[in-house]
Amino acid sequence: MEVVPLDTGEDVARLAADIVESLVRRTPAAVLGLATGSSPVPAYRELARRHSAGAAPSYDAVRCFTLDEYIGLPVGHPQTYRETIFCELTDALGIAREQVASPDPEPAGLPQAGERYEAAIRSAGGIDLQVVGIGTDGHLAFNEPGSSLSSSTRLKTLTEQTRRDNTRFFDKLDDVPRHVLTQGLGTILQARHVLLVATGQTKASAVASAVEGALSASCPASVLQLHPRCTVLLDTGAAAGLARADHYREVHAAKPSWQAYG
Ligand code: GLP
Repeated sequence: MEVVPLDTGEDVARLAADIVESLVRRTPAAVLGLATGSSPVPAYRELARRHSAGAAPSYDAVRCFTLDEYIGLPVGHPQTYRETIFCELTDALGIAREQVASPDPEPAGLPQAGERYEAAIRSAGGIDLQVVGIGTDGHLAFNEPGSSLSSSTRLKTLTEQTRRDNTRFFDKLDDVPRHVLTQGLGTILQARHVLLVATGQTKASAVASAVEGALSASCPASVLQLHPRCTVLLDTGAAAGLARADHYREVHAAKPSWQAYG
């Protein structure tokens, strides 16, 4: 893992945007894996800002796969992750909506939805860069504690804590769906580069467990320790629980200028 403790959320957003842009400059038909949640939003806004300023590469050939999706919300509901990613990023970058795939929560197809999504990712040639956040309980995508470390896309039931955390996007707790489709931890491990972004003190303990704790299904994000190319961008709050924070800062300050992230 390349752990990069930065000062502010804006620094995290800028570096995350640099990493996405440099991939798209190198690989115009890149395949992006996109997380929702509040953590990546500043990076998405920065990408959109650069694009509208005319200073960004073309995203016309980019294809995207969202990380997860709620089950039970009507198609087009503003809190579906598909709709969210259109509004927060892909529309602004001019990526056609048909080039954005997401797990299909249509009820009749649920038993096969996971395998269909895995097949779609495979037929796109795999994900080049997967952006992820982290839940306060260490969940990755919607892989809650106890999830198989080699899982693939499937239906999961949310914990009460995650539903409470996500109530802020709905009117009340009862409106937050109980079930979701999510890329598995094994799916995320197959992405060629994983970019974890976390900001704020509320993430400090989950980040410390994921980065410096034992590899364990009890902290699903710890599976990223197995990934050969994982970059972790943190602000001061999210890095607050790291025992080796000073070392990560020294490593980052000494990073050779020729060396890419991921
Ligand atoms: C949600 C999403 C995850 C996200 C996590 C943290 O449950 N499924 O992909 O990483 O919550 O969200 P936030 O970034 O809003 O804290």
